[in-house]
Amino acid sequence: MALRHNVLLFLCILNPFADALYKQWIPDTNFENATNWDKGSVPCGNDQVVFLAQRKVSVYVETSHTLTGMSLPVDGQLILASGSGFSVREGGDPGCGSGVTAQFKDPESLKWFDPSLWLAATSIDDLHGGTYQFSVHEESVPCQFDDVVFREASSFRVDVSCDHDVLVKSVSVLGKKFTSSSEFSQYLSSDFGRLQFHGSSPVSVSGSSCADITGCICDNSKNRNEICANVKCDPLECKKPLHPVGHCCDVCGAVVDVRFSSNFNFESYRNRLLHLFLSLPKYKTVQMAMSKVSKEQRLLELIPFGSTQEIQVLLLDRETGQDAGNLAESLAREIVKDVHDHGSNIGITSADFQASSGASSSEMAGNSAGVVVGAVLGSLIALGGPLDRGYDNPMFDKPTMMPEVPGLYGTEMVNSVTLTHSGVHFVNPVYDETDFNA
Ligand SMILES: *[C@@H]1O[C@H](CO)[C@@H](O)[C@H](O)[C@H]1NC(C)=O
Repeated sequence: MALRHNVLLFLCILNPFADALYKQWIPDTNFENATNWDKGSVPCGNDQVVFLAQRKVSVYVETSHTLTGMSLPVDGQLILASGSGFSVREGGDPGCGSGVTAQFKDPESLKWFDPSLWLAATSIDDLHGGTYQFSVHEESVPCQFDDVVFREASSFRVDVSCDHDVLVKSVSVLGKKFTSSSEFSQYLSSDFGRLQFHGSSPVSVSGSSCADITGCICDNSKNRNEICANVKCDPLECKKPLHPVGHCCDVCGAVVDVRFSSNFNFESYRNRLLHLFLSLPKYKTVQMAMSKVSKEQRLLELIPFGSTQEIQVLLLDRETGQDAGNLAESLAREIVKDVHDHGSNIGITSADFQASSGASSSEMAGNSAGVVVGAVLGSLIALGGPLDRGYDNPMFDKPTMMPEVPGLYGTEMVNSVTLTHSGVHFVNPVYDETDFNA
């Protein structure tokens, strides 16, 4: 037991900040990614490669390739990993068919504010291991305290256009993590940065984490128009669709609003819900998005008189038709029950839910309370454990859940060829040239 406490303490020191995620950009402009080619496959020895002349692009090349020829863009860059390159095979490539003209797809329209182009995770390990977090649309794109990750050994082109500056905690590009605003703006104006980032708004990094243990507001509501312009909402089949804060679409499911006090811990509560409820087989199809939101207070439901902060827990299931939202609703009832029983120990003062069936906790407090509580107790007993055992702290279970492994960000040696009007130029790796490691 003593040992376990030491482990927890150690992890708390390493990761004292709440409610921030790693957000990884999904698309890349890698030569080896078949989805980047109009023919759907990576060009081989008998093929002719074409980059659109007027398009700016930074292409990462990981291995060596044989081709019959290559048309280069006016302003572009090939980042050659060590050991990669291009050559022409005399007599053709027997494994390559008769040869086609393969065109590199245009990455120009991929937008920073498109929620479908990001993955979110609570740690780098989870990001690499494929354990992702679901978020409302506004929080699917990077928030002010998030670490933004562009995969190592890859390049990209992202359109950052909006009416505001874009601020994040850090940005990792080509295996190098930028946490200082001056270093990153220097990178943005380098041959690499200006081809990878384009659009009206500069991205800046603050290096600051969310220092509020009760969570931080994402602050992307100011970018709502840019974000929601990229989202297409599905038709809904439930009786009373909900409008979660920060989401672009109405949903079938349930929303739990949690009011908290100063000893509430956002990350612990997320872990509590994951371990106590979402890990149960019956809830395996339920997605949970938890966020701190600002809610307008209204007098008599009409006159606004200020705002309060709450924790919003959005629950969606993948059921359709008549069943849409039912599983989410039964989970919402369990979460509210948990707050009634244990809320005071975990810094929660009250919670209520609304479901797309029309049900809500006000109805639960009324005449059907006996039935509801009975059903909830029944399902809790079915867990097989004592009810008051608390929850498994995942930090105990996974001592490897470190926020970050220093070695991961070691700079890899990359060589670069810059293509311009006048020809092909080799440049030194940017880090050596401009001393970003200082
Ligand atoms: C190739 O690109 C697609 C689409 O951008 C992306 O989803 C996929 O992860 C990439 N593949 C690899 C191996 O990185």
